[in-house]
Amino acid sequence: MHPLVKHINSSFKIILLSTIIILIGFNSNAEMTAEEIIKSRQALFSKNYRTAKKVQSLASNLDFEEATVLMKEMSENYKVLIDLFPENTQEGFDTGALLTIWDEKDEFNALMQKASDDMTKLVSVIEDADDIRGTLTKFMWSNCKACHNRYREEH
Ligand code: HEC
Repeated sequence: MHPLVKHINSSFKIILLSTIIILIGFNSNAEMTAEEIIKSRQALFSKNYRTAKKVQSLASNLDFEEATVLMKEMSENYKVLIDLFPENTQEGFDTGALLTIWDEKDEFNALMQKASDDMTKLVSVIEDADDIRGTLTKFMWSNCKACHNRYREEH
């Protein structure tokens, strides 16, 4: 074989091999990422739940300074959560997310944004609220329920 042909031939093999390795790499990466995304959104929801309970007890004890720090933290976490529902995370890895999310992505995102905005509103109204419990229900707990009813599996 002519040395040039031989060279082209082996170059081609290297390129083909690299392509295959890259493709396999991408594939397992995509899978890893889907699992990581699902796990991280579940962890963030659980964290928000723990934080919400702390907010409830702090506000009930009139410790508004500490409570508002946590309210702002929850508000930010909701903004992060909006980006943790990409198309490739609809199934698997014990997700409790319902497929309706992806059929109604705008509505779902709007609910998440509302949950975030309401935590900011809560910061501005909680100190002067006559009914602390009712105010927490209105601006914090009701948003969990509204979203879960429609977009999370029964548990
Ligand atoms: C806009 C929608 C939305 C809002 C608002 C929302 N959640 Fe969820 N939540 C979900 C979805 C969807 C899941 C399922 C996620 C998954 O398993 O992939 C979930 C899962 C959870 C989980 C289970 C996490 C795990 O480890 O599997 C807890 C706990 C939770 N939410 C608590 C709350 C609490 C408490 C609030 C309010 C303070 C809240 N969520 C607000 C949509 C929402």
